[in-house]
Amino acid sequence: MGSDFIRFVLSEHPEDEVLNYDKLTYAGNLANLASVADNSRYHFVQADICDALAVKKAIQDFQPDVIVNYAAETHVDRSIHDPEAFLRTDVMGTHVLLEAMRASKVSRFLHISTDEVFGSLAEGEASEEYPFRPTSPYSASKAAAEHLIMAYWHTYETPVLITHATNNYGWHHYPEKVIPLFITNLLEGKKVPLYGDGKNVREWLFVRDHSRAVDLVLRKGDLGQSYNIGSGERITNLELTSELLKQLGKGEESIERVKDRPGHDLRYALNSEKLRNLGWKPSYTFQDGIQETVEWYKKNEAWWRPLKSGEYQEYYAKQYGDTKGDSA
Ligand code: TYD
Repeated sequence: MGSDFIRFVLSEHPEDEVLNYDKLTYAGNLANLASVADNSRYHFVQADICDALAVKKAIQDFQPDVIVNYAAETHVDRSIHDPEAFLRTDVMGTHVLLEAMRASKVSRFLHISTDEVFGSLAEGEASEEYPFRPTSPYSASKAAAEHLIMAYWHTYETPVLITHATNNYGWHHYPEKVIPLFITNLLEGKKVPLYGDGKNVREWLFVRDHSRAVDLVLRKGDLGQSYNIGSGERITNLELTSELLKQLGKGEESIERVKDRPGHDLRYALNSEKLRNLGWKPSYTFQDGIQETVEWYKKNEAWWRPLKSGEYQEYYAKQYGDTKGDSA
């Protein structure tokens, strides 16, 4: 998501410069920004948002007008195995950035959050005012960060904005999230591990539409406010899987039913009227976005193949069992 936003800003705003401050953990990958690496308006610092001195130095050196915080541990399943990493980066890291904001002249801090802070909705949609009911260590960390951000707004008038994204998908997506995992498994001739009964509902948003929305909120949003970013296109995991099987010419036998995720949220759905009133609407339908994404993974095997070896294989084996995901 962050790399797409950087590419978007550099191409849409020729007057803007970008400093990419990134620790490059397992899901970070400089190859995602190879197309802008030689751009004189693009700069890169490899550092951790939990490192207060490094954050302070980056702000002093670069003198940014705005900060957009995409830095986070984001994978729910990993948060179930290792909650601590999520508390560190998503909560403590955000705290470091907020403290650095207080000591700087930065005019806006936009924090990327998630629809998961609202928990599972049996029906209807969550507006920005909906109560927080996070259920996983991941969503609890994101909710905690949001509370801290709003506390800084109320206490110190730190100029903050928050966005809640629904499930993003698209190019350069690390193949542990369901869409890139299923596409790459199918391209490798493996099965796709569908959790539980597959009836869980997610609202899918193409990453470029997310970048456009974040850019709009950053420039036009009201300080101290949060904005939902959703496409309105909600489907079950089973429907999603059928679409991917169709796109890749595979049948139902490529589905491997696996144990459900503990505490698996049934349904997310956002009301994005507030953002639409600012002038945004998605430009990709789910159908177009999925086609674009499948094409990208077909053409960029050299990008994702190495990501599915080494440490990833160990993670995958732990997650689904040694034999799961092997040839169909
Ligand atoms: P995921 O991409 O992990 O996003 P999130 O949990 O943040 O919504 O999962 C999307 C949905 O797909 C979720 O309901 C869990 C399900 N899922 C599977 O069925 N199998 C998988 O291997 C993964 C990773 C997810």
